[in-house]
Amino acid sequence: MNNTLKLLHHHTSVRSYTNQPLTEEQREAIFKAANQTSSFSLLQAVSIIRITDPDLRRKVMQLSMNQPYIEEAAEFWIFCSDFHRNHQIAPEVDLEYIEFLLIGSFDAGLMAQNALTAAESMGLGGVFIGAVRSNINELSDILNLPKYVIPLAGLCIGYPSGNKPELKPRLPESMVLHENQYQTQTLDKLKLAAYDKTMLQYYENRPVSAPFTVKKVKGWSDHIRDHLQRSIQPQMMDYLHKQGYAKK
Ligand SMILES: Cc1cc2nc3c(=O)[nH]c(=O)nc-3n(C[C@H](O)[C@H](O)[C@H](O)COP(=O)(O)O)c2cc1C
Repeated sequence: MNNTLKLLHHHTSVRSYTNQPLTEEQREAIFKAANQTSSFSLLQAVSIIRITDPDLRRKVMQLSMNQPYIEEAAEFWIFCSDFHRNHQIAPEVDLEYIEFLLIGSFDAGLMAQNALTAAESMGLGGVFIGAVRSNINELSDILNLPKYVIPLAGLCIGYPSGNKPELKPRLPESMVLHENQYQTQTLDKLKLAAYDKTMLQYYENRPVSAPFTVKKVKGWSDHIRDHLQRSIQPQMMDYLHKQGYAKK
């Protein structure tokens, strides 16, 4: 197996870092990897905001469910869908179509993943922070985001402290990969039960490490029931409209 595959097959999120900073060379290499990512029609509708000011970093952490690794990581980058640049070039185009939300979000996600993979290839670790969207209006204010720019996810990057976390098991190929047409038959209860058991064992064996204080012990189905509900952000539609997105 080649080194790229080995790296991708062994991804785990890292939430605990030493205080060693990245070199300028490392930071540039990660940026270059992200910036060379495929881009829908080369619209390049993404901006990254690198948070270096410690006070600002603390505020971002507080607005993002107080996750301490946001403050501790050597680097914290926020990936934004950004049509502000494109709008300045072509102000006559109506950007309120929902397709632009899809384009910007997909491109930002691809760039963010390439940044993380690049970091991991250098022995660094990282974790995405979707919680940057939990107080999205306040975050947009402190980041001075103009119309057509929305923050989608943060990325912590740093040197892992301690051992790398255990690989988190994923759904089996047969539940995720469809051939030719979507397989609409009801969820295979046996396969789901087997994955629930795998995840339960994973959580049972996983040591409780900071910032968590309570051991999570549940199967994947229970995790889904909890987290689907928690993921709802009722303010999002109004926010998107305010930023000029997804009105039609
Ligand atoms: C878009 C996105 C947002 C995420 N947001 C958070 C977050 O706010 N806090 C966190 O600790 N992990 C976050 N994660 C990490 C996921 O929890 C993690 O990827 C998932 O549990 C799988 O674990 P693994 O990456 O170690 O394999 C996020 C991941 C993605 C892709």
